[in-house]
Amino acid sequence: MKVLVVGGAGYIGSHMVKMLLNANHQVITLDNLSSGHRDAVIGGVFVEGDLADNDCLYRVFEEHKPDAVMHFASFIQVGESVRKPDIYYRNNVTNTLNLLDIMLKFNVKKFIFSSTAAVFGEPDYVPIDEAHPNRPLNPYGRSKLMIEHVLADYAKAFDLRSVCLRYFNAAGADPEGQLGERHDPETHLIPLILQAASGRRENIQVFGRDYDTPDGTCIRDYIHIVDLCSAHLAALDYLVNGGESDRFNLGNGSGFSVQEVLDAVQKVSGKQVKVIDGPRRDGDPARLVADAKRARSVLNWKPVFTDLETIVKHAWQWEIKCLDRASKVSA
Ligand code: UFG
Repeated sequence: MKVLVVGGAGYIGSHMVKMLLNANHQVITLDNLSSGHRDAVIGGVFVEGDLADNDCLYRVFEEHKPDAVMHFASFIQVGESVRKPDIYYRNNVTNTLNLLDIMLKFNVKKFIFSSTAAVFGEPDYVPIDEAHPNRPLNPYGRSKLMIEHVLADYAKAFDLRSVCLRYFNAAGADPEGQLGERHDPETHLIPLILQAASGRRENIQVFGRDYDTPDGTCIRDYIHIVDLCSAHLAALDYLVNGGESDRFNLGNGSGFSVQEVLDAVQKVSGKQVKVIDGPRRDGDPARLVADAKRARSVLNWKPVFTDLETIVKHAWQWEIKCLDRASKVSA
Protein backbone atom coordinates (compact mmCIF):
# COMPACT_ATOMS: atom_id res chain seq x y z
CA MET A 1 0.00 0.00 0.00
CA LYS A 2 0.97 3.64 -0.31
CA VAL A 3 0.96 5.14 3.16
CA LEU A 4 1.33 8.85 3.86
CA VAL A 5 3.09 9.32 7.21
CA VAL A 6 2.54 12.84 8.47
CA GLY A 7 5.19 13.69 11.06
CA GLY A 8 7.41 10.84 9.87
CA ALA A 9 10.61 12.65 10.88
CA GLY A 10 9.71 12.62 14.58
CA TYR A 11 10.37 10.02 17.25
CA ILE A 12 7.39 7.73 16.69
CA GLY A 13 6.89 8.62 13.01
CA SER A 14 10.48 7.73 12.04
CA HIS A 15 10.22 4.27 13.63
CA MET A 16 6.91 3.85 11.81
CA VAL A 17 8.45 4.72 8.45
CA LYS A 18 11.12 2.08 9.02
CA MET A 19 8.56 -0.58 9.96
CA LEU A 20 6.32 0.22 6.98
CA LEU A 21 9.28 -0.01 4.59
CA ASN A 22 10.30 -3.34 6.13
CA ALA A 23 6.74 -4.56 5.57
CA ASN A 24 7.09 -3.61 1.88
CA HIS A 25 4.72 -0.66 1.91
CA GLN A 26 5.45 2.46 -0.12
CA VAL A 27 5.94 5.42 2.20
CA ILE A 28 5.58 9.14 1.68
CA THR A 29 6.68 11.23 4.66
CA LEU A 30 5.32 14.74 5.09
CA ASP A 31 7.01 16.74 7.86
CA ASN A 32 7.69 20.44 8.42
CA LEU A 33 10.86 19.59 10.41
CA SER A 34 9.77 21.88 13.25
CA SER A 35 10.83 19.19 15.69
CA GLY A 36 11.65 16.20 13.49
CA HIS A 37 14.97 15.37 11.82
CA ARG A 38 15.43 14.84 8.08
CA ASP A 39 18.06 12.15 8.68
CA ALA A 40 15.59 10.14 10.77
CA VAL A 41 13.56 9.38 7.64
CA ILE A 42 15.47 6.37 6.39
CA GLY A 43 13.64 5.74 3.11
CA GLY A 44 10.65 6.35 0.88
CA VAL A 45 9.69 9.77 -0.45
CA PHE A 46 10.25 12.80 1.79
CA VAL A 47 8.29 16.04 1.39
CA GLU A 48 9.07 19.02 3.60
CA GLY A 49 5.76 20.75 4.14
CA ASP A 50 3.20 21.92 6.62
CA LEU A 51 -0.38 20.85 7.29
CA ALA A 52 -1.38 24.52 7.32
CA ASP A 53 -0.33 24.75 3.65
CA ASN A 54 -3.32 23.53 1.63
CA ASP A 55 -1.49 23.86 -1.71
CA CYS A 56 1.27 21.61 -0.43
CA LEU A 57 -1.28 19.05 0.80
CA TYR A 58 -3.02 19.14 -2.57
CA ARG A 59 0.25 18.51 -4.42
CA VAL A 60 1.20 15.60 -2.13
CA PHE A 61 -2.15 13.88 -2.62
CA GLU A 62 -2.26 14.56 -6.36
CA GLU A 63 1.26 13.34 -6.98
CA HIS A 64 1.45 10.37 -4.61
CA LYS A 65 -2.16 9.20 -4.30
CA PRO A 66 -1.86 7.55 -0.87
CA ASP A 67 -4.21 4.71 0.11
CA ALA A 68 -4.03 5.46 3.83
CA VAL A 69 -2.75 8.15 6.18
CA MET A 70 -1.01 7.92 9.57
CA HIS A 71 -0.88 11.19 11.49
CA PHE A 72 1.90 11.75 14.03
CA ALA A 73 2.43 15.50 13.60
CA SER A 74 1.25 17.19 16.74
CA PHE A 75 2.55 19.19 19.65
CA ILE A 76 2.92 16.94 22.69
CA GLN A 77 3.96 18.89 25.76
CA VAL A 78 1.27 19.05 28.40
CA GLY A 79 2.74 22.04 30.30
CA GLU A 80 3.32 24.07 27.14
CA SER A 81 -0.27 23.37 26.03
CA VAL A 82 -1.53 25.08 29.20
CA ARG A 83 0.59 28.19 28.51
CA LYS A 84 -0.03 28.30 24.75
CA PRO A 85 -3.41 26.68 24.05
CA ASP A 86 -3.77 28.67 20.82
CA ILE A 87 -0.88 26.94 19.07
CA TYR A 88 -2.02 23.54 20.39
CA TYR A 89 -5.55 23.94 19.04
CA ARG A 90 -4.26 25.37 15.77
CA ASN A 91 -1.75 22.63 15.16
CA ASN A 92 -3.46 19.63 16.72
CA VAL A 93 -7.03 20.46 15.69
CA THR A 94 -7.17 22.93 12.77
CA ASN A 95 -4.26 21.35 10.91
CA THR A 96 -5.72 17.87 11.39
CA LEU A 97 -9.01 19.14 9.93
CA ASN A 98 -7.04 20.37 6.88
CA LEU A 99 -5.57 16.91 6.49
CA LEU A 100 -9.00 15.26 6.76
CA ASP A 101 -10.43 17.72 4.19
CA ILE A 102 -7.82 16.83 1.62
CA MET A 103 -8.30 13.12 2.32
CA LEU A 104 -12.01 13.48 1.59
CA LYS A 105 -11.27 15.45 -1.57
CA PHE A 106 -9.08 12.61 -2.84
CA ASN A 107 -11.36 9.88 -1.50
CA VAL A 108 -8.72 8.52 0.91
CA LYS A 109 -10.71 6.93 3.69
CA LYS A 110 -8.32 5.10 5.98
CA PHE A 111 -6.81 7.10 8.82
CA ILE A 112 -4.71 6.16 11.83
CA PHE A 113 -4.52 8.83 14.50
CA SER A 114 -2.01 9.25 17.34
CA SER A 115 -4.12 9.88 20.38
CA THR A 116 -3.03 9.81 24.00
CA ALA A 117 -3.75 8.58 27.50
CA ALA A 118 -4.18 12.28 28.32
CA VAL A 119 -7.76 11.99 26.96
CA PHE A 120 -8.67 10.28 30.27
CA GLY A 121 -7.39 12.76 32.86
CA GLU A 122 -7.26 11.62 36.50
CA PRO A 123 -8.36 7.96 36.33
CA ASP A 124 -11.29 6.56 38.30
CA TYR A 125 -9.67 3.12 38.10
CA VAL A 126 -6.59 1.38 36.67
CA PRO A 127 -5.89 -0.34 34.38
CA ILE A 128 -7.74 2.11 32.15
CA ASP A 129 -9.90 0.53 29.46
CA GLU A 130 -11.59 2.20 26.51
CA ALA A 131 -14.87 2.57 28.44
CA HIS A 132 -13.21 4.82 31.05
CA PRO A 133 -14.71 8.36 30.97
CA ASN A 134 -12.80 11.05 29.07
CA ARG A 135 -12.00 14.06 31.23
CA PRO A 136 -8.77 15.56 29.85
CA LEU A 137 -7.06 17.98 32.23
CA ASN A 138 -5.21 20.15 29.73
CA PRO A 139 -5.44 21.62 26.21
CA TYR A 140 -3.14 18.89 24.85
CA GLY A 141 -5.50 16.11 25.95
CA ARG A 142 -8.55 18.12 24.89
CA SER A 143 -7.10 18.76 21.42
CA LYS A 144 -6.66 15.01 20.90
CA LEU A 145 -10.12 14.21 22.23
CA MET A 146 -11.65 16.80 19.89
CA ILE A 147 -10.19 14.98 16.91
CA GLU A 148 -11.46 11.66 18.25
CA HIS A 149 -14.98 13.18 18.23
CA VAL A 150 -14.45 14.63 14.75
CA LEU A 151 -13.40 11.20 13.49
CA ALA A 152 -16.46 9.50 14.96
CA ASP A 153 -18.67 12.03 13.13
CA TYR A 154 -16.70 11.74 9.87
CA ALA A 155 -17.12 7.97 9.95
CA LYS A 156 -20.91 8.37 10.06
CA ALA A 157 -21.18 11.23 7.58
CA PHE A 158 -18.39 10.47 5.11
CA ASP A 159 -17.50 6.82 5.68
CA LEU A 160 -13.96 7.87 6.58
CA ARG A 161 -12.77 4.96 8.71
CA SER A 162 -10.18 5.56 11.40
CA VAL A 163 -8.36 4.01 14.29
CA CYS A 164 -7.41 6.23 17.24
CA LEU A 165 -4.54 4.82 19.27
CA ARG A 166 -4.22 6.21 22.78
CA TYR A 167 -0.56 5.95 23.63
CA PHE A 168 0.49 5.63 27.22
CA ASN A 169 4.26 6.27 27.68
CA ALA A 170 6.09 5.66 24.42
CA ALA A 171 9.69 4.69 25.19
CA GLY A 172 12.73 2.80 23.97
CA ALA A 173 14.41 2.90 20.58
CA ASP A 174 15.00 0.92 17.42
CA PRO A 175 16.63 -2.37 18.56
CA GLU A 176 19.05 -2.09 15.60
CA GLY A 177 20.29 1.24 16.94
CA GLN A 178 19.43 3.21 13.82
CA LEU A 179 16.74 5.47 15.36
CA GLY A 180 15.74 6.83 18.74
CA GLU A 181 14.29 9.71 20.71
CA ARG A 182 15.67 13.21 19.94
CA HIS A 183 13.31 15.76 21.47
CA ASP A 184 14.53 19.27 22.10
CA PRO A 185 13.80 20.17 24.81
CA GLU A 186 13.57 16.67 26.28
CA THR A 187 10.90 16.32 28.95
CA HIS A 188 10.36 12.54 29.13
CA LEU A 189 11.58 10.51 32.05
CA ILE A 190 13.58 7.70 30.42
CA PRO A 191 15.71 9.83 28.04
CA LEU A 192 16.32 12.37 30.82
CA ILE A 193 17.63 9.69 33.19
CA LEU A 194 19.75 8.21 30.39
CA GLN A 195 21.25 11.63 29.70
CA ALA A 196 22.09 11.92 33.39
CA ALA A 197 23.69 8.45 33.25
CA SER A 198 25.78 9.31 30.18
CA GLY A 199 26.90 12.64 31.59
CA ARG A 200 25.03 14.84 29.10
CA ARG A 201 22.97 16.12 32.05
CA GLU A 202 24.05 16.69 35.64
CA ASN A 203 21.15 15.11 37.47
CA ILE A 204 17.55 14.03 37.33
CA GLN A 205 14.77 15.44 39.42
CA VAL A 206 12.10 13.09 40.78
CA PHE A 207 8.77 14.92 40.73
CA GLY A 208 7.28 13.87 44.05
CA ARG A 209 7.84 10.94 46.42
CA ASP A 210 4.62 11.32 48.37
CA TYR A 211 2.16 9.64 46.02
CA ASP A 212 -0.10 6.84 47.13
CA THR A 213 2.04 4.15 45.46
CA PRO A 214 4.30 1.46 47.01
CA ASP A 215 7.50 3.58 46.77
CA GLY A 216 5.78 6.99 46.69
CA THR A 217 6.71 7.82 43.07
CA CYS A 218 4.33 7.96 40.09
CA ILE A 219 3.54 4.83 38.12
CA ARG A 220 3.38 4.84 34.33
CA ASP A 221 2.91 2.27 31.58
CA TYR A 222 5.98 2.33 29.31
CA ILE A 223 5.42 0.84 25.88
CA HIS A 224 8.29 0.03 23.51
CA ILE A 225 8.30 2.16 20.38
CA VAL A 226 8.46 -0.96 18.17
CA ASP A 227 5.35 -2.39 19.84
CA LEU A 228 3.63 0.96 19.46
CA CYS A 229 4.42 0.97 15.74
CA SER A 230 3.38 -2.65 15.26
CA ALA A 231 -0.05 -1.66 16.61
CA HIS A 232 -0.29 0.86 13.75
CA LEU A 233 0.50 -1.86 11.22
CA ALA A 234 -2.16 -4.04 12.83
CA ALA A 235 -4.59 -1.09 12.67
CA LEU A 236 -3.83 -0.62 8.98
CA ASP A 237 -4.63 -4.31 8.31
CA TYR A 238 -7.79 -3.92 10.34
CA LEU A 239 -8.98 -0.99 8.22
CA VAL A 240 -7.96 -2.69 4.95
CA ASN A 241 -10.03 -5.71 6.00
CA GLY A 242 -13.09 -3.52 6.46
CA GLY A 243 -12.83 -2.80 10.20
CA GLU A 244 -15.12 -0.10 11.56
CA SER A 245 -13.80 3.11 13.14
CA ASP A 246 -12.64 2.45 16.67
CA ARG A 247 -10.21 3.56 19.38
CA PHE A 248 -7.76 1.49 21.40
CA ASN A 249 -5.56 1.99 24.44
CA LEU A 250 -1.92 1.09 23.85
CA GLY A 251 0.28 0.14 26.75
CA ASN A 252 1.97 -2.81 28.37
CA GLY A 253 -0.64 -3.26 31.03
CA SER A 254 2.04 -3.20 33.71
CA GLY A 255 3.07 -0.05 35.50
CA PHE A 256 6.54 0.98 36.67
CA SER A 257 7.32 3.69 39.17
CA VAL A 258 9.78 6.52 38.59
CA GLN A 259 12.07 4.83 41.14
CA GLU A 260 11.87 1.51 39.28
CA VAL A 261 12.80 3.28 36.04
CA LEU A 262 15.77 4.90 37.82
CA ASP A 263 16.89 1.52 39.13
CA ALA A 264 16.54 -0.07 35.68
CA VAL A 265 18.63 2.67 34.02
CA GLN A 266 21.38 2.36 36.64
CA LYS A 267 21.42 -1.42 36.23
CA VAL A 268 21.47 -1.40 32.41
CA SER A 269 24.01 1.42 32.10
CA GLY A 270 26.16 0.47 35.07
CA LYS A 271 26.24 4.18 36.02
CA GLN A 272 25.11 5.97 39.14
CA VAL A 273 22.72 8.82 38.46
CA LYS A 274 22.57 11.91 40.67
CA VAL A 275 18.97 12.18 41.85
CA ILE A 276 17.32 15.30 43.27
CA ASP A 277 13.98 14.98 45.02
CA GLY A 278 11.67 17.73 43.80
CA PRO A 279 8.04 18.68 44.33
CA ARG A 280 5.14 17.11 42.45
CA ARG A 281 4.62 18.28 38.87
CA ASP A 282 1.20 19.87 38.28
CA GLY A 283 -1.41 17.57 36.78
CA ASP A 284 0.49 14.27 37.27
CA PRO A 285 -1.89 11.44 38.22
CA ALA A 286 -0.34 8.87 40.63
CA ARG A 287 -0.96 5.93 38.30
CA LEU A 288 -1.61 5.60 34.58
CA VAL A 289 -1.74 2.02 33.36
CA ALA A 290 -3.47 0.80 30.22
CA ASP A 291 -5.82 -2.06 29.78
CA ALA A 292 -4.84 -2.88 26.19
CA LYS A 293 -6.76 -6.16 25.87
CA ARG A 294 -8.96 -4.81 23.09
CA ALA A 295 -5.98 -3.94 20.90
CA ARG A 296 -4.74 -7.51 21.36
CA SER A 297 -8.08 -9.14 20.62
CA VAL A 298 -9.60 -6.86 17.95
CA LEU A 299 -6.43 -5.74 16.15
CA ASN A 300 -4.59 -9.00 16.82
CA TRP A 301 -1.71 -6.93 18.19
CA LYS A 302 1.16 -8.82 19.79
CA PRO A 303 3.66 -6.67 21.72
CA VAL A 304 7.08 -8.30 22.09
CA PHE A 305 9.36 -5.96 24.10
CA THR A 306 7.30 -5.85 27.27
CA ASP A 307 9.92 -5.77 30.00
CA LEU A 308 11.29 -2.50 31.28
CA GLU A 309 14.95 -3.53 31.07
CA THR A 310 14.70 -4.24 27.33
CA ILE A 311 13.01 -0.87 26.75
CA VAL A 312 15.77 0.86 28.73
CA LYS A 313 18.52 -1.21 27.05
CA HIS A 314 17.47 -0.10 23.57
CA ALA A 315 17.14 3.53 24.68
CA TRP A 316 20.59 3.35 26.33
CA GLN A 317 22.13 2.02 23.10
CA TRP A 318 20.69 5.09 21.35
CA GLU A 319 21.93 7.46 24.07
CA ILE A 320 25.48 6.12 23.63
CA LYS A 321 25.21 6.72 19.90
CA CYS A 322 24.03 10.33 20.47
CA LEU A 323 26.92 10.87 22.85
CA ASP A 324 29.44 9.56 20.28
CA ARG A 325 27.92 11.80 17.62
CA ALA A 326 28.07 14.86 19.93
CA SER A 327 31.71 14.18 20.85
CA LYS A 328 32.67 13.84 17.16
CA VAL A 329 31.01 17.18 16.37
CA SER A 330 32.81 18.96 19.20
CA ALA A 331 36.20 17.30 18.48
N1 UFG B 1 9.22 12.63 35.82
C1 UFG B 1 10.14 12.95 36.81
N2 UFG B 1 11.19 13.75 36.46
C2 UFG B 1 11.38 14.24 35.20
C3 UFG B 1 10.43 13.90 34.20
C4 UFG B 1 9.36 13.10 34.55
O1 UFG B 1 10.01 12.54 37.95
O2 UFG B 1 12.35 14.97 34.98
C5 UFG B 1 8.08 11.77 36.16
C6 UFG B 1 6.74 12.42 35.90
O3 UFG B 1 6.34 13.18 37.01
C7 UFG B 1 5.86 11.20 35.62
C8 UFG B 1 6.82 10.20 34.98
O4 UFG B 1 8.12 10.65 35.33
O5 UFG B 1 5.42 10.66 36.82
C9 UFG B 1 6.71 10.15 33.47
O6 UFG B 1 6.77 11.47 32.97
P1 UFG B 1 6.92 11.80 31.42
O7 UFG B 1 7.01 13.28 31.29
O8 UFG B 1 8.01 10.97 30.81
O9 UFG B 1 5.56 11.25 30.80
P2 UFG B 1 4.05 11.61 31.20
O10 UFG B 1 3.49 10.40 31.86
O11 UFG B 1 3.92 12.88 31.92
O12 UFG B 1 3.44 11.89 29.75
C10 UFG B 1 3.10 10.91 28.83
C11 UFG B 1 3.24 11.47 27.42
C12 UFG B 1 2.30 12.63 27.22
C13 UFG B 1 0.91 12.18 27.54
C14 UFG B 1 0.82 11.55 28.90
C15 UFG B 1 -0.50 10.95 29.10
O13 UFG B 1 4.57 11.88 27.20
O14 UFG B 1 2.36 13.05 25.88
O15 UFG B 1 1.78 10.52 29.05
O16 UFG B 1 -0.86 11.02 30.41
F1 UFG B 1 0.06 13.23 27.52
